[in-house]
Amino acid sequence: MNKIKNIGVLTSGGDAPGMNAAIRAVVRAAIYYDLEVTGILRGYEGLINGDFMPMDRKSVANIIQRGGTILKTARSDGFRTFEGRKTAHEQLVKHGIDALIVIGGDGTFTGANLFSQEFGYPIIGLPGTIDNDLAGTDFTIGYDTAINTVINAVDKIRDTAESHDRLFIVEVMGRDSGLIALRSGIGVGAEAILIPEAKTGIEGLITRLEHGRKDKASKIIIVAEGDEIGGGFNVGEVLKERFPAYDIRVSVLGHIQRGGKPSCMDRVLASRFGVSAVEGLLHGKSGEMVGQINREIVFTPFSHAIKHINAEEISPTWLKLVEILSL
Ligand code: F6P
Repeated sequence: MNKIKNIGVLTSGGDAPGMNAAIRAVVRAAIYYDLEVTGILRGYEGLINGDFMPMDRKSVANIIQRGGTILKTARSDGFRTFEGRKTAHEQLVKHGIDALIVIGGDGTFTGANLFSQEFGYPIIGLPGTIDNDLAGTDFTIGYDTAINTVINAVDKIRDTAESHDRLFIVEVMGRDSGLIALRSGIGVGAEAILIPEAKTGIEGLITRLEHGRKDKASKIIIVAEGDEIGGGFNVGEVLKERFPAYDIRVSVLGHIQRGGKPSCMDRVLASRFGVSAVEGLLHGKSGEMVGQINREIVFTPFSHAIKHINAEEISPTWLKLVEILSL
């Protein structure tokens, strides 16, 4: 065990359902191990500005079920600069904070990686992003809730698609990653899924629509916002020109995917990660992200977690599954 006495915790980047459960777990675990905890507001912005508040058992009461993040979050330009990170380090030293737990996605860990290398400061990450695009964990906090939000929304859209014999293009989040589209698309029985990782998706879709069954009343196409054509509306334009006979509508789900009560899976994952992060710091771990692979807790260096997306899921096997099931 090392000499950590006060742990700082922050959420950074896009919010994700389950971040509050993670904060709660960090605070409660720290108290359990006789440590003090400091909440840092608005991610790295608050770290630079010294926006700190002491946290106790009660400050995390009744938050496990709440979406968003009680610590608020931001995408910080200041922390991208060495000057910003230096000021952040000075603030931590000034306030007697000995270690940090950061909850966020790849942008958060890119900053955390630099910070731990530059200042040799103990820092552990918790994967909190709806995108699920980090290596070193099967699932990130927020992904399960987000894909369930998507399938609930698309089930409703399906009613209209079916009643009007329409083709619906539904755009889901995922600027660089198609994992939300992939799983939710399978979950709603989509005709096709267009994702940034699979090029030529649109040609495959056009061929399928040309040669596929003509007796289907409704068709749902799930498009990740970062696909090669540039999102749902652009895909809609291509298909409208190619298939003028189809009655086509586009629906963009947007930020409803980031909000709402976390699912039980996300609450449990966040709780487990929060406790493991505190224990990891106490055992001298640093510069790593806590994750879960095949139900086991694992620690992965930030540099690996951010550079390798959860590649296994975007395998041809999964894409073939979509094709087989959409017959
Ligand atoms: O990182 C999560 C994410 O939801 C992406 O999928 C999406 O492109 C982005 O956040 C949107 O971020 P913002 O809230 O800044 O528009």
